Amino acid sequence: MSEEKPKYGWYVKNLILTFNIIGSFGLAAFIIGLILLGMLGVILSIIGITLMVLFLWPGLGLAAMNIILGKEDSEDWGMEMLSKIQSPSVLDIGCGTGRTAIKIAKSLPKGCHLNGIDIYNVNAISGNSLETVNRNAELEGVSDKSKFQYGSATEIPFEDNKFNIVNLSSVLHEVHDYEDKERAMKEIHRVLKPKGFLIIGEWNRYSWQLILYSGILCMVFQRRKYWDDLIRKHGFTILKYENFGGYGQFTVQK
Ligand SMILES: C[S@@+](CC[C@H](N)C(=O)[O-])C[C@H]1O[C@@H](n2cnc3c(N)ncnc32)[C@H](O)[C@@H]1O
Repeated sequence: MSEEKPKYGWYVKNLILTFNIIGSFGLAAFIIGLILLGMLGVILSIIGITLMVLFLWPGLGLAAMNIILGKEDSEDWGMEMLSKIQSPSVLDIGCGTGRTAIKIAKSLPKGCHLNGIDIYNVNAISGNSLETVNRNAELEGVSDKSKFQYGSATEIPFEDNKFNIVNLSSVLHEVHDYEDKERAMKEIHRVLKPKGFLIIGEWNRYSWQLILYSGILCMVFQRRKYWDDLIRKHGFTILKYENFGGYGQFTVQK
C-alpha cells in the first residue's frame, strides 16, 4: 500500500504545457529549416529560433524550477523572528496549497497558531484549493496548529492588531492593480500588532536566476525598488532584504 504524500502542485502548470508545445513547434521549424537550406530554410530557422527563445526557454526553465521545488524537503521555515516572539500568531496570505504556510506551521512552538487565507480563483498552482491545503496540513501533521480559509489580501477577514507576523510568499505580483496592492498593504498594516513583522517574498525581474528560469516571462515580475517603494509608502520599516537565488525576501516591521 502506498503512503499518501502531500501535493503542493506545480506553479503555472498549464502555461508551462502551452509554452512547451509552442516551443516544440519552434524546434521542429528550426530543424526543418536546417535540412531545407535556401531562403525557405533560413526563414523557417529564424521563426524556429524566435519560438524557442520566447516559448521553449521559459517552458523548460519553469518545468525545471518546479521539479527542483518538488524535491525540496519540507524543512523548517527558520523564520528568525519566531524565536523573538513569545507566542507568535502568524497569518499567511495567498497560502495556496500550503507549500510555505505548512513550513511556517512546522516551525511554530507548541500552542501557537497559523492562519492561512487565499482567494483560490487564480490558476497559479495546479490543484490549488482549500481541500488540498487542508489535506496537506493533515498529512504534514500540522492541522492542530493551522487553519485555512477563503479570504483576500485586499479584505482580510480578521480583526485589527491580531497577528505578530504576516507572510506573503510570491503573492503580491498576482494582485494586479496597483490600487489593490495598496489596499492589501493597508489591510496588512491593520491586522498586524504594533511592531509586528511582515515578510514579503517576490522574484526580482533582473536576477539572472529568474531570467534563466523564465526567459521573457521575467517581465511579469517587478524589480526590487518597486516593492521597496510600496512597503515604505505604507509606513513600514524595512529591516532586511535577502536574496535567495533571485527570490528576494523583505523582512519588514510595522
Ligand atoms: C504563486 S502562488 C504562491 C502560493 C504560496 N504562497 C506558496 O508559497 O506556495 C500565489 C497564490 O496567491 C493567491 N492569491 C492571488 N491573489 C490573492 C489575493 N488577492 N488574496 C489572497 N490570495 C491571493 C493565489 O490564489 C495563489 O494561491
